[in-house]
Amino acid sequence: MRRHGWRAGRPYDCRVSEQPAPSAPRQSTGGTKAFYVTTPIYYVNDAPHIGHAYTTTAADVLARWHRQRGEDVWFLTGTDEHGQKVLRTAAANDAAPQDWADRLVATAWLPVLETIDASNDDFIRTTETRHTERVQQFLTGLKDAGEIYEGEYEGPYCVGCEEFKLPGDLEDGTGDFAGQQVCRIHGRPVDLVSETNWFFRLSEYADRLLAHYEANPTAVAPPSAYNEVVSFVRHGLQDLSISRSTFDWGIPVPWDPAQVVYVWFDALLNYYTAVGGGDEPGTPGATQFARVWPADVHLVGKDILRFHAVIWPAMLMAAGLPLPRQVFAHGWLLVGGEKMSKSKLTGIAPSQIIDHFGSDAFRYYFLRAIGFGSDGSFSWEDMSARYTAELANGLGNLASRAAAMVGRYFDGALPAPGAYTDAEHALQQTVARVAREADDAVEVLDFQRAIVAVKAFVDEVNHYVTDQEPWVLAKHPERRERLATVLYTICESLRAIAVLYHPVMPKATTALWDQLGAATSLGRISGQPVGEVGRWGQLPTGVPVTKGAVLFPRLEEPAESGT
Ligand code: MSP
Repeated sequence: MRRHGWRAGRPYDCRVSEQPAPSAPRQSTGGTKAFYVTTPIYYVNDAPHIGHAYTTTAADVLARWHRQRGEDVWFLTGTDEHGQKVLRTAAANDAAPQDWADRLVATAWLPVLETIDASNDDFIRTTETRHTERVQQFLTGLKDAGEIYEGEYEGPYCVGCEEFKLPGDLEDGTGDFAGQQVCRIHGRPVDLVSETNWFFRLSEYADRLLAHYEANPTAVAPPSAYNEVVSFVRHGLQDLSISRSTFDWGIPVPWDPAQVVYVWFDALLNYYTAVGGGDEPGTPGATQFARVWPADVHLVGKDILRFHAVIWPAMLMAAGLPLPRQVFAHGWLLVGGEKMSKSKLTGIAPSQIIDHFGSDAFRYYFLRAIGFGSDGSFSWEDMSARYTAELANGLGNLASRAAAMVGRYFDGALPAPGAYTDAEHALQQTVARVAREADDAVEVLDFQRAIVAVKAFVDEVNHYVTDQEPWVLAKHPERRERLATVLYTICESLRAIAVLYHPVMPKATTALWDQLGAATSLGRISGQPVGEVGRWGQLPTGVPVTKGAVLFPRLEEPAESGT
């Protein structure tokens, strides 16, 4: 039996030298592989706050964008239900852990997906049999391959992080915790654990992991996250305790049911179990696995980067499975300069914002205001200001003016354009460039750049309206063809804007699509390929353009009364 813990850490072992494990190509044997995107699975110790909704929103925008690229997409999210954190919360609420998890999933985690308009294809719960059975099977495979052995763990454990801690992860407590060592993230004392556990030979994978990062410089993103992970692994890895024996809320270790699987080992496997990992060839699970594996991107908050960029690929290497193409670590939503968190009671529920601004504005705001990968603070004033300037006055006003003018001057039927001038040619070139730029930006998860590019186009079209003064043209019957050209140009620009913004603001853009008469003439907005957006002249002339509900009502006015 070997002894472990931060006091018994092994030095960096440079014996292992293997070939890098390049990311798998985007083709599987059955044809093009589906784009597989995941969120972390969320602890059910409490209800979601906007930090959780932020990750899911980003994943949803990415999934919708790739669907509009015409790709097969699989978008997975779910809940992480085992471990001491959930067990303690359930106990504090006089509930059995399974009942507690059921209640939280039904009343909080599933409803928030509706609230933020998520289009996930699946929702995995770690207490489902499809998960627990495959985790046991995976673990047995690793044990049979000699990757798991029995040892003793002794050291600090933070239940908030559900993580075995190293000395550098702790700091001196203050206030109530003065004189104690506390977790840097949770600011609370850690437990001292001394247990006989099962260990995974993580230390053996340091060199292979480093070779993997080197061969795949975007396997961990953004670059700051990549550098952090490489530097962490260069300092050497310790073997990982992957079971716990002092409580029973978890998946039993198949060969030693007195122990339960360590919650992170259990949770990381959701990405594998939810898509049929390990299933017999010819079964529906195996077909699904061949279709989606490996994941294209695991979106995670920066606090859980190491689990995903170190432990998870090592687990997959041990099992001989292709590695995810990318783990992307986004920043934190901060409150008073600190990570918004349930434990510090600083969480804002998504509905607190969405009830006022709507789900589209929520989705837009967080991806537009905060660079994906950086921290950011939520401020009601900033959100209000951007809502008014960019959505209500910017896009909303453009859409309502266009519909009103087609209604007034052409009886609501989109007129055929006459000869285009330089002003129209400039917009046509811009739209093609913006479509490409937005696509390039989303490819590297730079949602902010994509949105800013589209927003700049909205501004340009608004300037075009001001410059062309269609209301003046309308006073001169001999300028009717010019008026038609201008109105067609505005509506056709709105067609492109609606398609490009659809992944970010699905509700408002669907309404805009209907107002443009595009649903009947061009089909569903979600089926419009982003690659075709820049092709000018798609809206057929004569379609009914109608002034529907205001897309972004001014918030100081009742929603129905806006114009
Ligand atoms: N259960 C684990 C994840 C297991 S994945 C195999 C977990 N759950 S969590 O509920 O605590 O956090 C889930 C995600 O929410 C993490 O990516 C975390 O970074 C994110 N966020 C939690 N608070 C956040 C902010 N204040 N801001 C942004 N994201 C935040 O960790």
